[in-house]
Formats: sequence, structure tokens, C-alpha cells
Amino acid sequence: MGSYSEEPEFKTLTIKPLHPTFGAEVEGVNFQNLSDEQFQEILLAMAKYGVCVFRNTGLDDASHIEFSKRIGDLDTMRRYMADGRKPRYGFYELFDAGNIDDQGGVLDPDAPRAHYGKGNALFHVDSSFNPRRASFSLLRAVEIPPPGNGGNTDFADSRTAWDTLDPALQRELLEKDHVVHHSIAQSRKLGSPEFFKDLDPTNAGRMSRHRLIQVHEPSGRRNIYIAAHSHHVEGIPKPESDALIKKLLDHVTQKHNTVSVEWRQPSDMIIWDNRATLHKANGGAFEGRYRRDLRRTTVHDDSSTAWGLNPVEEDTDKWVVNHAATKSAAMTRVQG
Ligand code: OGA
Ligand code: MN
Repeated sequence: MGSYSEEPEFKTLTIKPLHPTFGAEVEGVNFQNLSDEQFQEILLAMAKYGVCVFRNTGLDDASHIEFSKRIGDLDTMRRYMADGRKPRYGFYELFDAGNIDDQGGVLDPDAPRAHYGKGNALFHVDSSFNPRRASFSLLRAVEIPPPGNGGNTDFADSRTAWDTLDPALQRELLEKDHVVHHSIAQSRKLGSPEFFKDLDPTNAGRMSRHRLIQVHEPSGRRNIYIAAHSHHVEGIPKPESDALIKKLLDHVTQKHNTVSVEWRQPSDMIIWDNRATLHKANGGAFEGRYRRDLRRTTVHDDSSTAWGLNPVEEDTDKWVVNHAATKSAAMTRVQG
């Protein structure tokens, strides 16, 4: 750093850091005609910053998906639509993070579907509850609420969180090498306790097992892999497990370890690495009043710990078990 032989680290990108330890706004990307050189620089920027914000990309559904596929294999909505339902926006690769109802209006915050999304308001990583976790998520704005009505997306730096952990606790965690069980039922319940009060995460399909402390392979830095989906730490008493999960989540998500990103215009896109960051949706005055249409592609992790301690099941239809159990419990509750 600062030596006379210094070269700009990025030749085709302009980087504007958003926080002292992670997150950047990246300018100068030509998504309409992306060179290999620029694509590689985007991956480098992702490895370094964990979260990159791209303004006014010009991407639409199809080109968003096409760009995402260049990074890796995509997860799809197929397994949720085994009953023949069609994807809302025509593409199985798009996960709906928005608040649009079936008629195109604003989803009632009390509608059952809204309750399924409330866990998103808690700091989490995408897909830790799946046998194969996600590496990158790419979230793109299609329509956003008028300014001043909330709806930011917040991020937390799980690599710096490791670096700043008390050294005695670091040693203990490395020695114990804990495995955490993740369940979508856990975050749903935390996100909407009354709606999901009859949902029992221990009876909602198999949980996914991932190590708590991991090395983020693209950067070689350790991180704390924890999320609102984290149900328990394997092999220790539940009260101790609850206390450890809470302590680590509190540590990772301390205000000064987070950054809040505002959506400014349609086709803004944020890419984050779920192996280096946590994120959450922010509510606000827009809820029940303005449309917030955000669509996400999700890249399957291809690092050596992608599957954690889970059996490798390439057939993603088998993963649905978890969700089916979650749904029937909640539906019983709605009807009852
Ligand atoms: C997601 C998510 C946050 C948001 O799409 O995975 O958590 O702000 N979205 O909508
Ligand atoms: Mn998410």
C-alpha cells in the first residue's frame, strides 16, 4: 500500500467504499457488453468487499439471470412449484423478495404470504437451511417506494466480526469447531412468532448442518457463519447453544459492523456473498402503501464447504421437505 510501484487494483472499475471494513459501490460496469476482464474484476471486488452495489445497471429479468449464470449454477423456484404453479415473473431462477400481491397491488402486511417474508427482516444469510448453501445473491430493483419511505437493505460483515472477536473466544471456537443446525422454520418463527406459533422447527423437516467458523475461500479470511436460521449448536445443552448463537449474532450485527444500502432507482442491483456477510430487509412507511418489487437470483456455492456436513443431494426437489412441513403447520394455524 502506498508504495511508488503502486498500481491501481482495478483497471476497469471505480470503487467507492461504503464502510471502513466492507461494502462498495462499483461504477463503470458495462452490463450490456461485459468483457471477461471486467467480469473477473467484479469477482475480485466481491472477494474483497463482500457486498457490491451497482447503480442503474439496465438489467432486466432475462439479462439479470444471464449475468448470474456467468458466476455459477443458480438455485431455482422449481421445488416450490411442484404443484404446477408458475413463477410470478415467468422465470424459475427469480426469487421474489418484493411485496406485490397476486393482482399486482401492494401485499397486505397481514396476508399469510407476508408473514412468510417477515424473517427476512432479521439478519440472515440466504439458503443456509438448504443442504447446499448459497454463495452469491444478486438482488435487483424493479420498482422501489418513493424516497423516505424505508425499504433499505442492511448488511453485516461476518469476516471482520471474526477478526474482532475476543481472542479467548476465538481459540475456544477453533478448538470446538462447532456445527450449527439451520432451519427456515427458525427464522420464520422469530420473524412472526404469533403467526407461526404452532410451528416447531424440530419437527419441520431435516435441518441443514454447517460449521460455525469457516474460511471464506475467495479471500482466505475466516468468518462466522451464523444467521436467523441458526436453530442450535450441535452437541451442547440448549441453553448454552441459545446463549452462544445470541452472543455471536449480537456481535456480528453490532451497528458499527453494518452498512445500510438505499435503493435509488429501478435496475439498481446489489450482489452479496452469503459466506462473508449477513443481510436483512428494512421495513418502513412503504409497507402496505407502496410497491417494492425486488427480484433475486441465487448462486449455488461451489466452495469446498458448500454442502457443509449434509449429504450431497443434487436433486433440489428433495430439499422441499423442510418447506412443506413449515407450510402445513402455518396453514393449520391460519385455518384454526
Ligand atoms: C433476499 C433478502 C432483503 C430485502 O432477497 O434474500 O433478504 O431488502 N432481501 O428485500
Ligand atoms: Mn435474504
